[in-house]
Amino acid sequence: MLELNNIKKTFNKGTPNEFILYDGLSLKAEVGDHIVVVGSNGSGKSTLLNVIAGSVYVDSGSVVLNKIDVTNKKEYIRAQDIGRVFQDPKMGTCSTMTIMENMSLAYNKGNKYGMEAGLLKHKREMFKDMLRQLGISLEEKMETKAGALSGGQRQALALLMATMGNPKLLLLDEHAAALDPKTSAIVLDLTESFMTKDMTSIMVTHNLADALAHGNRLLMLHKGKVLLDIKGEEKKKMTIEALIHMFSKEEDVFTDTMLF
Ligand SMILES: Nc1ncnc2c1ncn2[C@@H]1O[C@H](COP(=O)(O)OP(=O)(O)OP(=O)(O)O)[C@@H](O)[C@H]1O
Ligand SMILES: [Mg+2]
Repeated sequence: MLELNNIKKTFNKGTPNEFILYDGLSLKAEVGDHIVVVGSNGSGKSTLLNVIAGSVYVDSGSVVLNKIDVTNKKEYIRAQDIGRVFQDPKMGTCSTMTIMENMSLAYNKGNKYGMEAGLLKHKREMFKDMLRQLGISLEEKMETKAGALSGGQRQALALLMATMGNPKLLLLDEHAAALDPKTSAIVLDLTESFMTKDMTSIMVTHNLADALAHGNRLLMLHKGKVLLDIKGEEKKKMTIEALIHMFSKEEDVFTDTMLF
């Protein structure tokens, strides 16, 4: 479904700040893979999602999405197959638009006559049903502007919007990190409910406990390299203690924010 082949990525090439992040990074993901990515600050988690989505271009190597080489394809073209939610609740929704208007826009992704078509009355009931399924009473706030929602409500809406077009690939970058622990847990549980067998997701988190509790595959990045890639039963059995023991000889693999 997704292939990253021998990716090289240098930032600030040819300047004194030149920094090689990836030097031959490869990754394959199948349909139904729900990969949780962990790693310390600067290990290359967000850049991984940016490389896949096309917000960052690579020096060499290839990005293949659904058997199509998209390495040189623009972000908006890849966006037809990709849903994204970012850490900042302000990123995924438009503050000045109501929930109804935000959802119409997401529903009509790629359709330039989106708003007129989307605001049709029958869509309203459909959106209401979708919101009801989130279980946080957003269906009662259809005319509330997204800017007036709490961070958690807004991320839940962003998640719903990102998955409305049934994207083949869902990219989540610490989308629950800015929320209080209780709301974060709600958003992560919601996320889990969106992770179906016929899609693929990559979710970045800082928190090891969350990483172990969600998804079917765990990827640990460190300094632009994959330190660990475990799946299925092996992932289910993994514990924080075992991970710490495994990498006890390496420096800076774990930071406090990953453990608590
Ligand atoms: N546009 C850029 N220009 C220069 N350096 C960059 C750029 N984007 C990322 N980097 C560098 O690449 C490295 C990886 O960054 P990235 O944002 O992928 O890390 P991360 O694992 O998401 O970290 P965090 O946990 O802090 O979000 C960092 O050292 C960062 O400074
Ligand atoms: Mg990041």
